[in-house]
Amino acid sequence: MILTDAEQAMLDGAEGPAKQKAMDLLVRYAEALGADRFVDTSNVAGVPGSSSLFVHNYFKARGDASYEAIFSLFDLDADEVVPVPRMRANSCHLQGGMDPVLWREQGMSEEALDHQMQDEAELERHGVKVLKTCTPYLAGNTPRFGDHCAWMESSAVVYCNSVIGARTNTEGRESTSAAMLTGKIPDWGFHQDDFRRGTHHIEVEVPVDSVFDWGMLGYFIGGEVQENIPVVTGHLSSPGVIRHKHFGAAAASSGGVELYHMVGITPEAPSLDAAFGGRRPVQALRYGEAERRATYEALNSNGTSTDVDYVMLGCPHAALEQIEEAARLLEGKRISANSNLWIFTSRLIRIQADAKGLTRILQDAGALVMTDTCSAIAQSIPKGTRVVALDSAKQAHYLPAIMGIEAWFGTTQNCIDAALTGRWTGALS
Ligand code: F3S
Repeated sequence: MILTDAEQAMLDGAEGPAKQKAMDLLVRYAEALGADRFVDTSNVAGVPGSSSLFVHNYFKARGDASYEAIFSLFDLDADEVVPVPRMRANSCHLQGGMDPVLWREQGMSEEALDHQMQDEAELERHGVKVLKTCTPYLAGNTPRFGDHCAWMESSAVVYCNSVIGARTNTEGRESTSAAMLTGKIPDWGFHQDDFRRGTHHIEVEVPVDSVFDWGMLGYFIGGEVQENIPVVTGHLSSPGVIRHKHFGAAAASSGGVELYHMVGITPEAPSLDAAFGGRRPVQALRYGEAERRATYEALNSNGTSTDVDYVMLGCPHAALEQIEEAARLLEGKRISANSNLWIFTSRLIRIQADAKGLTRILQDAGALVMTDTCSAIAQSIPKGTRVVALDSAKQAHYLPAIMGIEAWFGTTQNCIDAALTGRWTGALS
């Protein structure tokens, strides 16, 4: 590793033991990657020092479950507990494990709530913005083009790289916590120009316009290219933030896509040649009607009963426009007594939804607007759920496996209809 004088000083302990441990961890990480230097980062998104009740009790049984103990021993992989100073980098906390208001409905305990509140007080004390969302770019953390970031959360990483043109690998708890303290992350992977060139060319031959279709396209592409970098051309309407977030989240779920290019749309793809950096694609694929239908069928492959007892919206966390859409579809109506509708978003968007009267409309219809988490992360669904309806390909990929339930995937309108009637009637048009 080639370290600057300041980095070497941190590694030698000149800025205290926590930064010394953080640099030690980052040097080991960089060496494992094969990186020979660090880049400065001033935008880190992780879960620093946070713990579920399970993790908290694990450390408690070993004698010290303080925030500093969990940060030292778990996040920094240290062999002793050290005082943790305020974070150096601009740092935010991603999604958590429970809604701070509707925790009872999620089946959480008061003890878990108390623990979460203590964690949040520590986060504030250490200078971490408690955004509690998988969409930090909708909630006050939007990097600039070219910024070096260190983010966790696959759906946020792919958005950060592809739509904004900022640079991050998919980091983990340990590397983000160490980056928050030091402002450093290995100069490897997506931080480097060479790594960001497209590898696979996908020509889209059917119109892709709705959020539903963008999710399916992302799911198809992720499954095909896995961890490579797709370059997409063809019948694409210019996607806004919501379509990008559904596309990217899906591609990061069926595969491990961390960066995509859309020619004429995303910032590093002004032309096909630029997207591939002058290289030839290793593979060319097409997305036509047969691929669209096969993707729809794959996403609906475990649905058998059309009796839907749960509808979940907001994966990735809903934008205000998506809450507006749900409120418009539900205003003056009442969801079925046989079904539940939970909509997940960030705290910031929830405040806006409250101010616009949207939360009230949704509550009057029998829906709940929840923040901070989602059913997959919290492993929380309404009691007795057997069949869920989803408008997110990512959630359709994960939730049935996590919770052992059946799932249907369709449009937001299909899902709202299922909430109103208790029955799934979605079909591919
Ligand atoms: Fe967010 Fe949960 Fe989906 S954290 S991306 S809503 S799986």
